[in-house]
Amino acid sequence: MTWDVRMRNNMFRRLPVEQATGRLYGGRHRLRVVYRTRDLIVLGLGVMIGSGIFKISGQQAAATAGPSVIISFLIAGGVCLLAALSYAELSSIVPVAGSAYSFSYVAFGEIWAWVVGWALVLELLLAASVVARAWSLYAAQALADFAVPVPSWLAGIIGQEKGFDLFAFGILVLLITMLATGSRMSLRSLWFMVMAKLIVIGLVVATGLKFFHAGNLTPFVPPERPAPAGATTVLDALLGAVTGSKPGVFGIWGIFAAAPAIAFAYIGFDLIATASEETDDAPRKVPRGMLTSLAIAVVLYVAVAVAMVGMVSTDRLDPAKPLLATAFGLVGADSMGKIIDVGAVLALTTVILVVLISLTRVVFSMSRDGLLPRPIAGMSRFRVPSRATLVAGGAAVVMSQTINVLTLEQMVVIGTLFAFLFVSAAVLALRRDRPDLHRPFRVPAAPVTAVATILATGWLMLNLKVQTWGYFTVWMVAGVLIYLVYGRRKSQMKLLLDAPPPERPVAARMEAPPPGPYVPGARPGTPAPESPYPTGRYSAGRRPGGPNQGAAGQGRYEREDAAEPPANPYALDPGVPNPFASGPHPAGRHGADQFTPSPYEGGRYGTGPYTRDPYVQDPYVQGPYEDGEREEPPSPGGRHRR
Ligand code: ALA
Repeated sequence: MTWDVRMRNNMFRRLPVEQATGRLYGGRHRLRVVYRTRDLIVLGLGVMIGSGIFKISGQQAAATAGPSVIISFLIAGGVCLLAALSYAELSSIVPVAGSAYSFSYVAFGEIWAWVVGWALVLELLLAASVVARAWSLYAAQALADFAVPVPSWLAGIIGQEKGFDLFAFGILVLLITMLATGSRMSLRSLWFMVMAKLIVIGLVVATGLKFFHAGNLTPFVPPERPAPAGATTVLDALLGAVTGSKPGVFGIWGIFAAAPAIAFAYIGFDLIATASEETDDAPRKVPRGMLTSLAIAVVLYVAVAVAMVGMVSTDRLDPAKPLLATAFGLVGADSMGKIIDVGAVLALTTVILVVLISLTRVVFSMSRDGLLPRPIAGMSRFRVPSRATLVAGGAAVVMSQTINVLTLEQMVVIGTLFAFLFVSAAVLALRRDRPDLHRPFRVPAAPVTAVATILATGWLMLNLKVQTWGYFTVWMVAGVLIYLVYGRRKSQMKLLLDAPPPERPVAARMEAPPPGPYVPGARPGTPAPESPYPTGRYSAGRRPGGPNQGAAGQGRYEREDAAEPPANPYALDPGVPNPFASGPHPAGRHGADQFTPSPYEGGRYGTGPYTRDPYVQDPYVQGPYEDGEREEPPSPGGRHRR
């Protein structure tokens, strides 16, 4: 093994962009393509509008920031918009299910990818559990508000903040089952529920503004008060150590302290990136869907915040109670309480649904790369990663029932902000290392914007509680240990780099051996002897840029005199154009990077393990997770296009 390969095959080994995205765009993908831009916007709104706006925003107004919570919404929204630009650029280069995890794998190497993936698992596992608990609280409240009789045996196990909760358990199991059996049904449900919750949010804003009193906004920044026990932020602690000041709430610092908690409400735009492998023309549609849904969310949230604090003075509110419903009750609009109950139940359902989708995609990606057990990445007959859904969903169920997750909302935020840091830094790293990559979306004023995002995200993280940082550190240390014990050894990248040079040719891919005469040692572009298969299936139908495709008549399986294009052996049905032969990719949509020679080409074995070398089996193409499925062509024009 050469020195450079040994150096490369360590914890910092990077996944080449070309390998992450597949030989052609989508070459490594197994997930069914179901999303269009508008689905992505709905997905984003589905996951963003949830307990953050219905519950946490009110708590922060009443306990930390007062009416200036409006500014906190703007700060949190601004930081998220900055981060979304970085996510958009990277999704346009690496449109794969792993999102920040995969971006970090490509930009920084495996250990960092694992660390980010592990933080994402924390974010998503906890988000699903926290929101399922909040769902139960609202569902129980809805039953009470609609005077639905609840038997006493049931009353003790629904709407509970901790311990066993039947509603939280039931909603998680229901949604996991839906997802494990195919996402089309869940996409339709998602559309319906998101539309319903947008109507409720519209009603909240319209009704709230009817009761608006400018006097309720004063003082806009309430005077600072001592912070209650357990609310000390890292910034408070640092300032206290340097200046001796005591931690406080409200005042100017209260605005900043509320911002990261409110960032919970925006969490979800980043999850759109995990739908990349299921999106048609992802390099363009994912950035569009992500930025549009986040912009809509910022406008809606600020409108809700203005309506909320304009209705009643935040002094009159109890942070322990759902503020929106209480505020409407105080102004005499009691019926809004019921509407909010229904809206919240629907809203939180979609949040759990999308969070679970993203969680399974991240776990699927990490398993596919071997950092988690690879069998988890198996696909079911529904063409969804059912095993990842069951494993990750099961973990969320256990977490929701055993831990007092409602006190851990900030853990969701810290996991997300941690990923923001890496994603913004990855933009800078890839601009430096791979300026050649085609970027359908580019962060405007990139270095400045990316650095500003890192600083702003870091600032929000400093405003999280000391306790949150403590728990997060424990989680991450556990993650690094798991990587050292398991992922480092089982990584697919490691197996690829360790693989001995092949002694004899292995079929490049797909099920059949090449029918053309085999020429030992022939390399791409070697003139071929006369083929006995004039219109054989491996002639012109091979993928462009493939190993055997040189100038006409040069490839081993090609013939100059092929009378007409052969049947496409990879087509799903006769009406589907062959994406490898004449699809939308080569000429432009996905850009030249799809066909850029691998940086590893010409490396270790002359053509290296990541190349289109016909003699090297591609484990991502024929790996065990396929369950015997053959590879599907990417979607454009395919029958999975909606
Ligand atoms: N943004 C999501 C919510 O607010 C996580 O519930």
